[in-house]
Amino acid sequence: MKVSLSTDAPTRVRADLIAVGVRAGQLGRDRVFKQLDKASRGALAKAAQLEDFQGKAGEILRVNVRGIGAPLVLLIGLGETEWKARDARAFAVKAAQSAMRYGTLAVVLPQLEGAGLEEVVAAVTDGLLGGTYRYTRYLTGDRVPKRRTETAKIVVEDKRARALRGAIERGTILAESINLARDLVNAPPNDLTPTALAEAARIQAEQHGLTCKVWDKKGIEKIGMPLFLAVSLGSDQEPRLVHMQWKPKNAAKGTKRVTFVGKGLTFDSGGLCIKPGKSMIDMKCDMGGAAVTLGIMLACARLELPIEVHGFFGATENMTGASAYRPGDVFSSLEGKSVEIINTDAEGRLVLADVLAHAVQQTKPDYLIDHATLTGACLVALGPWTAGLFANDDELAGLYQEAARNAGESFWRLPLDEDLRELLKSDIADLKHVGDQYGGSITGALFLREFVGKTKWMHLDIAGPTFLDRPHGTSPKGGTGFGIATGVRFLERLAASAGDSRTSTPSAEPSRRAAKGSRA
Ligand code: BES
Ligand code: MN
Ligand code: ZN
Repeated sequence: MKVSLSTDAPTRVRADLIAVGVRAGQLGRDRVFKQLDKASRGALAKAAQLEDFQGKAGEILRVNVRGIGAPLVLLIGLGETEWKARDARAFAVKAAQSAMRYGTLAVVLPQLEGAGLEEVVAAVTDGLLGGTYRYTRYLTGDRVPKRRTETAKIVVEDKRARALRGAIERGTILAESINLARDLVNAPPNDLTPTALAEAARIQAEQHGLTCKVWDKKGIEKIGMPLFLAVSLGSDQEPRLVHMQWKPKNAAKGTKRVTFVGKGLTFDSGGLCIKPGKSMIDMKCDMGGAAVTLGIMLACARLELPIEVHGFFGATENMTGASAYRPGDVFSSLEGKSVEIINTDAEGRLVLADVLAHAVQQTKPDYLIDHATLTGACLVALGPWTAGLFANDDELAGLYQEAARNAGESFWRLPLDEDLRELLKSDIADLKHVGDQYGGSITGALFLREFVGKTKWMHLDIAGPTFLDRPHGTSPKGGTGFGIATGVRFLERLAASAGDSRTSTPSAEPSRRAAKGSRA
């Protein structure tokens, strides 16, 4: 789908279907509705009355009309909206999903107070492109989707078309980064091996101007990552370590360096502490943290954010082969502490421990942020749609939560409870890697903390929202790409707050490339 801008009047714009957002109880007052209704000789008001459409959230009405540029009008109830970016995104997702069968779609933006127009246009673009996402790689014959929307026009009155084209570019980049992460998470584990995941990162990095280095098993041994390697022992697939780097030429003075780390388990069987079948079925999603890391890195590069960003992930399987690591084994770690293995299904924290310590050594970041599908306990605590947020720095946590609100993603801060730390004491090694039954997400986070030194660090447990068993909000079933929108927003804010004169508005920041494009 290609998203473009149209300044045609809503009654004139040509499309197979035109989607119009209507606020609750505003039917008689909404200017766009009235225009369209008049041009179609009252067909809209009549249909709305017959069907009792009032503009409540969740209401959708499709009406065949004559007299305007589109033969079909889709009225979408917005409810009592404040019309923030997240409402705009939700509206666009609904419009795109209802219009999947049609070749061209037009969406009219309601003229409301609230978020700035650029912000809304970026969110609508992102919603249109993300709302029609489907993983179709393995479908054949009749199962191949026939027709998909080719173009979507965003109808605006505003003539600031250049700035808005920048917003479209920004929304497109975000949606494409998220959709890529969804594809990676949805890819079956026999296809997306650790090698394939690293290769995907390399190819994407090359396309979008990022540096990307990949280490194979020998390379990882050479660096010295005993915990990471321990997890990979049970698998015939070789592990991979990936480091992506975005170093902008236009780095704003005084910006912070940010390093992301992702858990990249392309499949988690549980190892010798094997999972029951029901819990194993979704475990291809256990590389969701790596996919988020990759998505954020790509978006940074394509948006040409003026801030230095690094992304690391450790990719491996957790399997039960003859050489698999065992409960009771003791391994050393890159950071130096020795670790007694308790449960081989708590593999993510072992991989992360070494990759976090390595990332600290290599990049000395101002902020270190990891994404990981780390614990089932996080789902128990927060449900499937909210990620757990742990931080050893309140300012970082606050900035991130603010970014999440803007991006429309849900994170909830959980405590690094010092009293639970003693559960990680081992009789024969420096640390056990698993605590007790209760507080499982917290002890997981406390274990990770042992490997980040004094670095300002945040751990995001995305075990729930990475992979859904049914659609929720603007997220599809399956892989969601959850975390990318917030990460990108956080970096945009951080880059802008350095107060560099080359950095434009803090909110909707079009890329330099996009700005160039719109002038042409
Ligand atoms: N990858 C899982 C966590 C997970 C669960 C992700 C559900 C997504 C959905 C992780 O490696 C795991 O198995 N954690 C164990 C830890 C336990 C053994 C301490 C868990 O949550 O049971
Ligand atoms: Mn596990
Ligand atoms: Zn896992």
